[in-house]
Amino acid sequence: MVRGRIIWVAGPAVRAEGMLGAKMYETVYVGEERLIGEIIKLTGDIAFIQVYENTSGLRPGEPVYGTGQPLTVTLGPGLIGSIYDGVQRPLTSIASVVGSFIKRGVHVPSIPLDKKWKFTPTVKKGDRVEPGDIVGVVEETPLIQHKIMVPPNIRGGEIVEIVDEGEYTIEEEIAIIRTNSGEEVLKMYHKWPVRQPRPFRERLDPVIPLITGQRVLDTLFPMAKGGTGCIPGAFGTGKTVTLHQLAKWSDARVILHIGCGERGNEESEVLTKFPEMTDPYTGRPLMERTILIANTSNMPVAAREASIYTGVTMAEYYRDMGYDVLLVADSTSRWAEALREISGRLEELPAEEGYPSYLSSRLAEFYERAGRVKTLGSPERTGSVTIVGAVSPPGGDFTEPVTTHTLRFVRVFWALDPALAYSRHYPAINWIQSYSAYTETVARWWEENVDREWSKLRHEFYQILRREDELLELVRLLGPEALPDYEKLILDVGRMIREGFLQQSAYDEVDSFCKPEKQVKMLRLYVKFYRLASQALERGVPLKNIRAMKIIADIIRAKSMIPNDQIEKFDELEKRIEEEFREMILAVSTQIVSR
Ligand SMILES: Nc1ncnc2c1ncn2[C@@H]1O[C@H](COP(=O)(O)OP(=O)(O)OP(=O)(O)O)[C@@H](O)[C@H]1O
Ligand SMILES: [Mg+2]
Repeated sequence: MVRGRIIWVAGPAVRAEGMLGAKMYETVYVGEERLIGEIIKLTGDIAFIQVYENTSGLRPGEPVYGTGQPLTVTLGPGLIGSIYDGVQRPLTSIASVVGSFIKRGVHVPSIPLDKKWKFTPTVKKGDRVEPGDIVGVVEETPLIQHKIMVPPNIRGGEIVEIVDEGEYTIEEEIAIIRTNSGEEVLKMYHKWPVRQPRPFRERLDPVIPLITGQRVLDTLFPMAKGGTGCIPGAFGTGKTVTLHQLAKWSDARVILHIGCGERGNEESEVLTKFPEMTDPYTGRPLMERTILIANTSNMPVAAREASIYTGVTMAEYYRDMGYDVLLVADSTSRWAEALREISGRLEELPAEEGYPSYLSSRLAEFYERAGRVKTLGSPERTGSVTIVGAVSPPGGDFTEPVTTHTLRFVRVFWALDPALAYSRHYPAINWIQSYSAYTETVARWWEENVDREWSKLRHEFYQILRREDELLELVRLLGPEALPDYEKLILDVGRMIREGFLQQSAYDEVDSFCKPEKQVKMLRLYVKFYRLASQALERGVPLKNIRAMKIIADIIRAKSMIPNDQIEKFDELEKRIEEEFREMILAVSTQIVSR
């Protein structure tokens, strides 16, 4: 193995000489204390190393040891429920995040080595197995059955030994495979390089929506399972709350939360909040299907840089078991700043706003690892990794580099609007600026599973909002009286939609989650109201009579008055709307006749 010598130290960046034979992205141990680092640049025998631990006290002259291995994560039972730093070192308590760290140079196992798991084999002696095949299962938590798979980097062959059902630690041998080139021993874990995407058989189209229960997202700007999205927003506009809503409510099985908080207490807030959250589908702790990665400003920046790769690799691993995984990163701007800081220390030529020129390709590499796939191995299964990253542009300026580059690679854009947040319209997602490239691809799912008229209703509904936006512009110039009644009606219905449909409080017990069936019922209600009101206007019903309808308040309140399990009440409400309009029209026509 290579053994070099430190010649220069600058914060997380170290330069070492005598490194001939070392590889790019090789893991190295730096200094007498053997701090973990990674080679990020090689010129001749000089290696540039980013160090994942605090480098204070490190001096030129100290040794650097090569390992011949890239930076890897350990994948096996025990990941779920864990809290890690950016290079998968467990943070066992919140104190370890905000206060004292894991001691430097101490190499702690990422998953418990001594814990016994009940392993149930699903193959037998003599069976042939291929990479990705499931050889057994472990109940990792009451919510997650962990599939033990033949790692993708092992050759297939014949099972010549497999243990009986029983309790084993991850270090015990559970199977032996005879391959063409010898024997491979299987344990319940394997390692995988974080910067290398895990292989799969086939990429599938993003045709299944990721249901989040948030109306403005699911109905107007849907996310697909295996899709990518970003949620940029100025300070305090609701990035974190939205990501937590996704983590809690979305119909993904495994959640990976990568936190890059600015302040130590922001991260510790996440770490106290998550363990208190319950899984709404089972009532069990949400941590039984969640992995947290925490980076705080007092942790070494290099670990923050690595954290998104560590996270996405774990996400892919659960995808390979056949699960839908959601990875949320809050916020990727802090990650990009880590990249910028390291690049600066290496004295690289900066591009826009000091970020390195490879910011864009790094972002692309990260988001490209999302996808819905047919996995390797048998039994046949599909899994997905959906990635949603928050972006915190300084001053809320969406033209800054991290936002603009991210927008090139993601297909859903949920734009947070400070003006909406300021007026307490939550979620503060701007429905004119935002977009989703999945609207068409998931339409079929909605139509087959929820309502055949979904696209049509959604289109009409969105047109009302678009028209409202244009009209508001006119009103700003000319005043509201300049508009004819049928346009005033659009403003009225637009306001109803904003209050009764788009606004959805994360803290409202009934409304925090809105199931797809309820979303469509509500969609239909507003579209119906608008259609009937326009007809009524045409038939001579005065606008003031429509405005005075008491049922309007009931429509707006329905989101929190009608719970998810009583949606038939929307049909009653719809009937009442029809009746009231019928009566109003009848009243004006009899007036006309009697005149
Ligand atoms: N969906 C929502 N329902 C109710 N309140 C919300 C919602 N979204 C945001 N808020 C309110 O806005 C506040 C700020 O939200 P949040 O902390 O998510 O902002 P942020 O964009 O993450 O801020 P920062 O830039 O500081 O990280 C919340 O404390 C909450 O009061
Ligand atoms: Mg936040």
